Amino acid sequence: DIPVITIDGPTASGKGTLADVVAHELGYIVLDSGALYRATGLAARRAGVELDEAEAVAAIAAKLDLHFAKGRVWLGDEDITDALREEASGLAASQVAAHAPVRAALNQLQLDFRCLPGLVADGRDMGSMVFPDAPLKVFLTASAATRAERRHKQLISKGIPANIAGLREDLEARDARDKGRTASPLQAAADARRLDNSAQTIEESRDLVLSWWAEARPF
Ligand code: CDP
Repeated sequence: DIPVITIDGPTASGKGTLADVVAHELGYIVLDSGALYRATGLAARRAGVELDEAEAVAAIAAKLDLHFAKGRVWLGDEDITDALREEASGLAASQVAAHAPVRAALNQLQLDFRCLPGLVADGRDMGSMVFPDAPLKVFLTASAATRAERRHKQLISKGIPANIAGLREDLEARDARDKGRTASPLQAAADARRLDNSAQTIEESRDLVLSWWAEARPF
């Protein structure tokens, strides 16, 4: 049995950062499932496939030539790490993620990330669909204002100009699409622990999750 912790939540809630620090403490591997959806959107665009063509995009997802090495992400022999983090990639990801055949194609790929000593998986449906038996499921939220500020800080630190009001509109629109779709809508698993980190430091969130893990897991 491979230990799995799932962390789901809306955009810019801090799932990726929390997954990284928790995995670091435990020595576990991280699955950033959003990267798979982002890469699928990117690969579809490169192949000239329209993002609303579910079957054609699913065919791209099924043969996605994606590798993670030394903190970088590769599509074939191209380093797509920076392209993946662009806002446009997040939007494209949310479009392709609405198609059930695309989700089915990426499902097995996600399950294949499980390995010892354990996995921390972050996304939208890690706890509800992909790893329903995970002993600890976290549903991470933060206010829209906090999330827009975080995304703003992130972009500015990379020298990318950004505007908080515009970012907040974009993230609320993306959340609405992720919650409203029929295929795996963004929602907490019934047995998920809810964590609102609006007023928490990353260390506080990390320690809380580690204490839940100590309770949830028979060591
Ligand atoms: O970092 P951020 O939350 O902005 O994005 P992400 O986690 O990389 O996810 C990008 C988009 O992929 C989301 O808006 C979702 O529509 C989709 N996604 C999904 O449907 N299921 C997942 N497990 C992960 C991402």
